[in-house]
Amino acid sequence: LFSAVEKAPNDPILGLNDQFGADENPRKVNLSVGVYYDETGKLPLLECVQRAERQMADAPKARGYLPIDGIAAYDSAVKNLVFGAGSDAVNSGRVATIQSLGGTGGLKVGADFLKKVNPNAKVLISDPSWENHRALFSQAGFTVEFYPYYDAVKRGVNIDGMLTALETAEPGTIVVLHACCHNPTGYDITSQQWDQVVAIVKERKLVPFLDLAYQGFGNGIAEDGAVIQKFVAAAGDFLVATSFSKSFSLYGERVGGLSVFCASKDEADRVLSLLKVMIRTNYSNPPTHGGSVVATVLNTPDLRALWEQELANMRTRIRQMRTLLVADLKAAGVKEDMSFITQQIGMFSYSGLTKEQMVRLRNEFGVYGVDSGRICVAALNTKNIDYVCQSIARVLQ
Ligand code: LMR
Repeated sequence: LFSAVEKAPNDPILGLNDQFGADENPRKVNLSVGVYYDETGKLPLLECVQRAERQMADAPKARGYLPIDGIAAYDSAVKNLVFGAGSDAVNSGRVATIQSLGGTGGLKVGADFLKKVNPNAKVLISDPSWENHRALFSQAGFTVEFYPYYDAVKRGVNIDGMLTALETAEPGTIVVLHACCHNPTGYDITSQQWDQVVAIVKERKLVPFLDLAYQGFGNGIAEDGAVIQKFVAAAGDFLVATSFSKSFSLYGERVGGLSVFCASKDEADRVLSLLKVMIRTNYSNPPTHGGSVVATVLNTPDLRALWEQELANMRTRIRQMRTLLVADLKAAGVKEDMSFITQQIGMFSYSGLTKEQMVRLRNEFGVYGVDSGRICVAALNTKNIDYVCQSIARVLQ
């Protein structure tokens, strides 16, 4: 039966982790996967997480099955974070939220749900987008196409191209949008441009699916979530996938969520019931630990304040690395003006390096980025940045 199974290609992002692990170069640097490392090159275990875990250890609980849609206190914390505590959207009961296995899990539950309710819809993702968007929506059975996004010449967003593509999309088309910190380019659209997108989405009756994986890594928690309010104000249905992998440094716990904004509480109740069917027939119900940690932090005022501070520290350090990267690339002899790196936002920089240059960086220098030219600025520190810059300067020669 399996003799005809062909070997699938390695994952374009996570597959590089394995290659990195096996690399014996002592100077190797992993800038491939979107993970924040601190100044000492370590994956942080946030203080707010440690305190929540101590609280939980002091009052240990048995681990029964969670409800299919997850921990109630977690779901309501996600809802409050994404839509605003006390907001009309939350108070009206129009949001259906489930605990998911990371942001990816939220996207997949949402994709399966959409496939049920609108099986013939097309999915549009940005060109380029997170590699897994195309794969995930294709696996869910959709035809996936691109809307223009990145303009390589002006190093920014091709907003006219994007708006035109949305204006000509069929009603019901699912449009995957990066709520903040666009992955992989690092270029977000402005608040006014979001208004244009929201207006077109509303007029064309498109179905926005917002990927909110990097809330807090751009300009701040509220700032990065501001676009949600615009979609709420436009009053159409939309979905939001949330991730706490990066913002809580809880990658391996797989903590995320999916929220669906509906026309009424009654509709949201029905939507929730279908989301639960998607979950039950897939992984039954989510695990307990990560969700409990996040719920404890978000629902305990002093831990919440500590989290916001720790997240702000990560955001600030990434910005410092961007500035240093520009200066060090120049010092390493790169002639091209690389100052665009400080205009990008979030964890990534779309460096403009070609696939060949990225492969050389990896094979000759042990510096790992994604073939698209994306590098994770959040993995740079003052000890590895010189080596990274010298390596980039060499492949650009
Ligand atoms: C990334 O883009 O590197 C992250 O979102 C991690 C992943 O799952 O690909």
